[in-house]
Amino acid sequence: MDMFKPVRDPEIKYTQLFINNEFVNSVSGKTFPTINPATGQKICDVQEADKADVDKAVAAAKAAFELGSPYRTMDASDRGRLLEKLASLIERDWSFIASLETLDNGKAFAFHGSLGDVFFCCKVFRYYAGWADKIHGKVIPIDGSYFAFTRHEPVGVCGQVIPWNYPLAMATWKIAPAVAAGNTVVIKTAEQTPLSALYLASLIKEAGFPPGVVNILSGYGPTAGAALSNHPDVNKVAFTGSTEVGKIIMAAASNDIKRVTLELGGKSACVVFDDVDVDKVVVEAQEACMTNMGQCCVAGTRTFVHENIYDEFVAKSRELAMKRKTGDPFDSTTINGPQIDEEQLNKIMELIESGKKEGAKVEAGGERHGDKGYFVKPTVFSDVKDNMRIAKEEIFGPVQQIFKFKTLDEVLKRANDSTYGLGAAVFTNDINKALMFSQGVKAGTCWVNCYNAVTAQGPFGGFKQSGLGRELGEYGLQNYVEVKNVVMKIPQKNS
Ligand code: NAI
Ligand code: MG
Repeated sequence: MDMFKPVRDPEIKYTQLFINNEFVNSVSGKTFPTINPATGQKICDVQEADKADVDKAVAAAKAAFELGSPYRTMDASDRGRLLEKLASLIERDWSFIASLETLDNGKAFAFHGSLGDVFFCCKVFRYYAGWADKIHGKVIPIDGSYFAFTRHEPVGVCGQVIPWNYPLAMATWKIAPAVAAGNTVVIKTAEQTPLSALYLASLIKEAGFPPGVVNILSGYGPTAGAALSNHPDVNKVAFTGSTEVGKIIMAAASNDIKRVTLELGGKSACVVFDDVDVDKVVVEAQEACMTNMGQCCVAGTRTFVHENIYDEFVAKSRELAMKRKTGDPFDSTTINGPQIDEEQLNKIMELIESGKKEGAKVEAGGERHGDKGYFVKPTVFSDVKDNMRIAKEEIFGPVQQIFKFKTLDEVLKRANDSTYGLGAAVFTNDINKALMFSQGVKAGTCWVNCYNAVTAQGPFGGFKQSGLGRELGEYGLQNYVEVKNVVMKIPQKNS
């Protein structure tokens, strides 16, 4: 189908900052390069936001949020129509946007990569478009002679900081619920992947969003990101990224009690009992770990396999990893593209080396793929022990750890023995095991006989150091509203 043909060399139309519905240069005039991770070559330079640009964008978002502004007086249903229109424009330019994403991020163009991501963005914008005029409070029969009702009001200016692993999808998860609830947004994209969100900015303008409702900045974390998350006129911060930076953002929020939601790292457990179809689950467990080159917060990187099927499972996982096609992300047969950058490549290779040194067995991969770009061979470790670094630290690469277990109680305890708690999965045909595992596991999502079923409608987020608050679904709206209790006295007699 023509619609799904990649554009290998997509025209880069937008490299400036998007403030108040205009593309503008940075105040400092500084730019920075964005790199194609498949080649290590520069794609283009983009404008670099700093504190002065953050100030401008926040001022625009604040003005757009003033009572009486075109945005604040717009019918809620019309806010929904803007989101719906945006979804349609994304759909119109589906292949082009997916090409841009593949160029800048390195993920495969195919449906399991950028095409699927863009499709999911349309779903999320449409889902929240429907919510815009359905966010409402309650009438509460409080004690006394009162008429009391709650208003679910927007929080105000939302500062959003996103990572590079799903550039457009992360922008969408942040912008869609914020606008559905009537907030305004300043979003800082990851320095590795500014391009797809800048194209989205052009569609936001085309869709007819009033100026200042959504502002999009390219820039670095310690400068633009910190300026945004510390800004006194930002009422709420939403962050996705490392737990390390999440802690900095949460500390900054304490200065003026900003609302804050965090979606951080993980070390999710994928538990496989011995009553399953091994061939099928080998595929699902490896996909859980290696999808998006393992650059997935909810990646199921700890595969716990029952001892009765352990050897067979390991052998089949090894075979599968060796077949996982790694290379040019624009090639339709490619499964794994490159990692995002040299820093991530080095982090992954260092952790792989630690696994070897600590005595885990390399079944497949364990080294770089090629010498150009940032590719890692799909890697499988067996004989992994719970105290090894590869068992505890987030690797964020295509590296699967396979552990052996005997009983449900034991595996539940080991699955929960982590500072993280983002996702988990159990594969079994025994309903009681599935129920007991899903009850006992400390994670924001528990999948049974599936993985990565992340949808617009269901909530996503973490227990423990995997985060705070939930995104997506109805739950995702809770963090974008303030609840106001309005209490009106009813006189007993009309005198
Ligand atoms: P990071 O947490 O440094 O970057 C994420 C975003 O935060 C980027 O937009 C960055 O510019 C911004 N940022 C960085 N420092 C900041 C600061 N002081 N104030 C405000 N914003 C700041 O993540 P990084 O360095 O790209 O990757 C490091 C590790 O984090 C990865 O290896 C992976 O383990 C984890 N990670 C987790 C993600 C997730 O989806 N939960 C996404 C990306 C990374
Ligand atoms: Mg960082």
